[in-house]
Amino acid sequence: MRVAHVLIFPLPIQGPVNCMLKLAELLCLHQEIHVTFLNSEHIQQRLVNCTDVEIRFKKYPNFKFMTIPDGVAEDNPRTGDEVRNVVKGVEDVSSPMLREMLTSGLLTPYSLTCLLVDGIFTFALDIAKEVGIPLLYFDTISPCALWTYLCLPKLIEAGEIPFKGNDLDTLVNNVPGMEGVIRRRDLPSFCRETDLNNPTIQRIIKEGKHIVQAQGLIFNTFEGLEGPILSQFRTLCPNIYSIGPLHIHLKKSLSSPKTSTSNSIWKEDMSCIDWLDEQPKKSVLFVSIGSVATMSKAQFLEIWYGLMNSKTRFLWVQRPGSVIGLEENNDIPMELSKYTKERGCIISWAPQEEVLAHPSIGGFLTHCGWNSTLESIVEGVPMICWPYFVDQQVNSRYVGEVWKLGLDMKDVCDRDIVEKMVREIMEVRKIEFLERGREMRNLAIQSVNEGGSSYKDLDRLVEDIRLMRI
Ligand code: UDX
Repeated sequence: MRVAHVLIFPLPIQGPVNCMLKLAELLCLHQEIHVTFLNSEHIQQRLVNCTDVEIRFKKYPNFKFMTIPDGVAEDNPRTGDEVRNVVKGVEDVSSPMLREMLTSGLLTPYSLTCLLVDGIFTFALDIAKEVGIPLLYFDTISPCALWTYLCLPKLIEAGEIPFKGNDLDTLVNNVPGMEGVIRRRDLPSFCRETDLNNPTIQRIIKEGKHIVQAQGLIFNTFEGLEGPILSQFRTLCPNIYSIGPLHIHLKKSLSSPKTSTSNSIWKEDMSCIDWLDEQPKKSVLFVSIGSVATMSKAQFLEIWYGLMNSKTRFLWVQRPGSVIGLEENNDIPMELSKYTKERGCIISWAPQEEVLAHPSIGGFLTHCGWNSTLESIVEGVPMICWPYFVDQQVNSRYVGEVWKLGLDMKDVCDRDIVEKMVREIMEVRKIEFLERGREMRNLAIQSVNEGGSSYKDLDRLVEDIRLMRI
């Protein structure tokens, strides 16, 4: 039998793995497409421990997991700046193994017909050429953030980077399509580096050169949200597949859409849903900084005091290890603990998609990782954006200034500002943000409905992958 066989290889961190698994499942709904999902050993172990992913994917005879070491020490936290070790580990350790795997025909039962990998894996271009198969890059961050990455050489050439002077509010001129929108502070965090030889800057420049050479570029977004930026991309890389929001695209395509599609690498605490059931409609602020971001103890306390002073109910994900310098929970001032007992709920990991869809949720204080941002947009939940690093700085600017779906708190962590922003989102401008959220939510849903832009792009992607059969 002639089948298409795709190898999917995500960056081994929560956001990208989640996204790529969703795409893998969507592809597996087509029997003539076989998918091998290459996970790092570390991620696979955690997925298996925390979800029913193995059982869930057993129903697809055309799906198979494979694992590979990622070269990162087991005791490395893989969070904060340490996450760079994950990218480096994959480059140094996983990539030669991948090359070996593909050139020695280790993938069975069908030979590989397409490589589909994270956009940051520049090494994949050479491997695909060597093996003689097409390469599709899936960049799981937002196109608006990736577009600023691609413009980095232009920004350097024009002398806009490194920044001259300390004024982060200066507008940036050399990102086409973002004139008058993006300030220095809204550029990806690595643009604040003064040394252009910095490994992250060099890696990003390399990524920009590579991704436009692939056969196609996949995005987890939709035209109604990022149409103008997608048009900019098409000037460099005409074959764009904009197929998001993937999590609702998948739910819509499954025969039993109520089944869990969780790909969490922490155990989800479902008790928070019972707690949410008891709260008034749209009264709870959800607080989470995702899987990688960290905060100092001082920032942690500022946020907590801001929440308490706003008198808002909150559901807060305090991921183990995410607060640097916090020794014990008994380190917390009594008044904060007392307020939390009355109006708060703290857990270590949430079923986030379900939480955001809950009628009691009225706002989301988020780090603006791309998955979290999209999940919030899909549920029409207004956001307070507190970006941590890389792409998140751009996403938060778009949420606040372009899409008008919330407020951007970047570079600030002060209890008075937190209180003010929480009140704005949850009370003062609640109706305005909810209405705007509803409009964007409708566009998101339309895009994955039959005939919608993401629906059509996924169809085209499936068709193109089928044609890659050899
Ligand atoms: C990483 C990068 O740091 C970020 O810059 C990039 O945009 C995406 O990947 P991450 O922290 O993984 O960020 O954020 P995000 O993309 O938001 O993904 C987190 C995922 O974990 C989301 O799908 C979210 O639903 C899930 N999650 C988060 C949970 O299921 N439960 C939680 O408690 C928190």
